[in-house]
Amino acid sequence: MEQSKNNSHLIILGIESSCDDTSAAVWKNGNICSNVVASQEIHKEYGGVVPEWASRKHQQNILPTVQISLEKAGITLAEVDAIACTQGPGLMGSLLVGHSFAKGLAMSVNKPYVNVDHIDAHVLAHFIDGDTPKLPFLCLLVSGGHTQIVTVDTDYQIDVLGKTIDDAAGEAFDKAGKMLNLPYPAGPHIDRLAKQGNPNAFTFNTPKVDGLNFSFSGLKTSILYFLQKEVRKDKDFVQNNSSDLCASIQHTIVSYLICKLEKAMDQTGILEIGIAGGVAANSELRTALLNLAATKSGKAYIPKFEYCTDNAAMIAYAGGIKLKNENYGTLTDVCYTRKK
Ligand code: KG4
Ligand code: ZN
Repeated sequence: MEQSKNNSHLIILGIESSCDDTSAAVWKNGNICSNVVASQEIHKEYGGVVPEWASRKHQQNILPTVQISLEKAGITLAEVDAIACTQGPGLMGSLLVGHSFAKGLAMSVNKPYVNVDHIDAHVLAHFIDGDTPKLPFLCLLVSGGHTQIVTVDTDYQIDVLGKTIDDAAGEAFDKAGKMLNLPYPAGPHIDRLAKQGNPNAFTFNTPKVDGLNFSFSGLKTSILYFLQKEVRKDKDFVQNNSSDLCASIQHTIVSYLICKLEKAMDQTGILEIGIAGGVAANSELRTALLNLAATKSGKAYIPKFEYCTDNAAMIAYAGGIKLKNENYGTLTDVCYTRKK
């Protein structure tokens, strides 16, 4: 790809700490040479990410994660051309750890520091390697914190066409899973159990929002009221119907996402489509994306799994694009919790 060739001479260290994964990666000679992720198991005990714990764990993990990443890539810090780090959106305490660390590191070796937007990086993960999309490209970004439909145009200009007005798609999976007594994060468990269930066993209200925006809070309430009603009649209802419940909830969320993506294709005329973010691991969503592309004579793209969940490879790669466009940000830039 053009962009990769232009950046192939650069060595970029990427750092990511926006939520509960500490990650460091090295982009070198047009390839990702290391992508180390330190996940924080502690949040499972609480059924969701505890911001205070997340910041503390980042403090413990950041230095070894960066060191291992450099070692795996076979380079020293002095060889790095630039250091890129997530500026936002995310949890403020978590962002501050990576951001401050990366700025200090850049200053210590007198190399450029590059601010990267976490959501843009998830979308740009499509261009890291393999069969990359042609521009313009239409991407559905679905993670635990974000749900957006964006276009990627010349010079990797990203424009948002629609986004959630409340919860994210991953949050909908996780909150529904909590009601079904599944461990956090519930998305992969729902995906697994849904494989044995009937997607049409139960019907939940599909959220109604105009245009290309999304809403998931109504779905959460609809599931809650339905379960409360059924459990009053049969206290073992959830336990006895877990596969059908998972299949029906997953089908509702996936159909809703794909319906909006189809609408975006019709509005823009773009036939190169993709999904990014942690929910892109969902098997029904992946199949539905491929089917949508086939129906519209388009082409579907899904980044490698390790570039879908939170990772620093996408930060290093997006940092390279910003560096080439001379769009660095400055050492006095501050982190942000929500997309600007
Ligand atoms: O992108 P990500 O790793 O972190 C954030 O930036 O949020 O996404 C995590 C989200 C969680 O909500 C998790 O439940 C969801 O991705 N997820 C899935 C699957 N794997 C991860 N949701 C549905 N099906 C999956 N297979
Ligand atoms: Zn993310």
